[in-house]
Amino acid sequence: MPEQVAVIGAGQMGNGIAHVFAQSGLEVTMIDVSPKALSRARTVIAANLDRQIKKGALQSADKDAVLARIKSEQALDAAEAASLVVEAATENRDLKFKIFSDLDAVARSGAILATNTSSISITEIAARTKRPESVIGMHFMNPVPVMQLVEVIRGLATSDDTTARVLELTKTIGKTPVEVRDYPGFVANRILMPMINEAVYCVMEGVGTVESIDTVMKLGMNHPMGPLALADFIGLDTCLAILEVMHDGLGDPKYRPCPLLRTYVAAGWLGRKSKRGFYAY
Ligand SMILES: NC(=O)c1ccc[n+]([C@@H]2O[C@H](COP(=O)([O-])OP(=O)(O)OC[C@H]3O[C@@H](n4cnc5c(N)ncnc54)[C@H](O)[C@@H]3O)[C@@H](O)[C@H]2O)c1
Repeated sequence: MPEQVAVIGAGQMGNGIAHVFAQSGLEVTMIDVSPKALSRARTVIAANLDRQIKKGALQSADKDAVLARIKSEQALDAAEAASLVVEAATENRDLKFKIFSDLDAVARSGAILATNTSSISITEIAARTKRPESVIGMHFMNPVPVMQLVEVIRGLATSDDTTARVLELTKTIGKTPVEVRDYPGFVANRILMPMINEAVYCVMEGVGTVESIDTVMKLGMNHPMGPLALADFIGLDTCLAILEVMHDGLGDPKYRPCPLLRTYVAAGWLGRKSKRGFYAY
């Protein structure tokens, strides 16, 4: 087990990842360029711990201890002491490439450098460092404290040792790892995003209303959430970014993002996080 974990990006995924590691007894440093994101992350983690207490999944006496294990920092240098770094910053290739090249100069030797990217090539991210053997994909699902799955993705140069440590660690924090190949969108989003994109086309073409499309998928397919509510939950900017990576990387027009999705993102309608997407929040 690593003693110290650094989580880069304290958005909805970063705060969930920090929560889960801290709840497993590890010291966590959340690093985000935005002080607002850092303070919001603490509020969200506290509220999610309260929810676990209500459900009987956590003793109320443990809440303060979990929160006390989470520090907040703005500079990447704060990742220096970590033996595991999980990057969960915005889904953007150039941003992640820059973070990993900077991280390579900061992180201690032997540290595992994981990325929570939804779609970007682990091999390409790893190539920004001088230690590609230590770079791996650790793709958590949203909301992290609730969802069981972690997709584990090796890059071309990822070592057996790094992979074995991440598979073991994933189980230690109570999650189930599934190893998949480094391919645009991996498995989860390769299957999920075309469904979400098709639902957006159905809205654009007037096949159904937002509510009727979601109701068809909930009642007809037994999905717990409709695809448009799920897209709002994931973040429409993140959905668009993932579709772009799949469209570029796989070269098949079936992955082209729906123009209506682009329009919403251009308007700043990003879903729950901006309080407006296919639904108003
Ligand atoms: N939203 C989902 O359902 C979901 C699920 C699985 C994986 N992911 C992946 O997780 C990652 C984060 O997604 P999210 O939904 O949490 O996004 P988000 O928009 O909620 O948060 C991203 C955070 O990254 C921060 N950030 C930007 N640049 C940074 C930098 N240089 N250094 C440190 N922090 C920086 C932003 O300030 C923001 O707080 C993405 O790669 C995304 O694809 C998202």
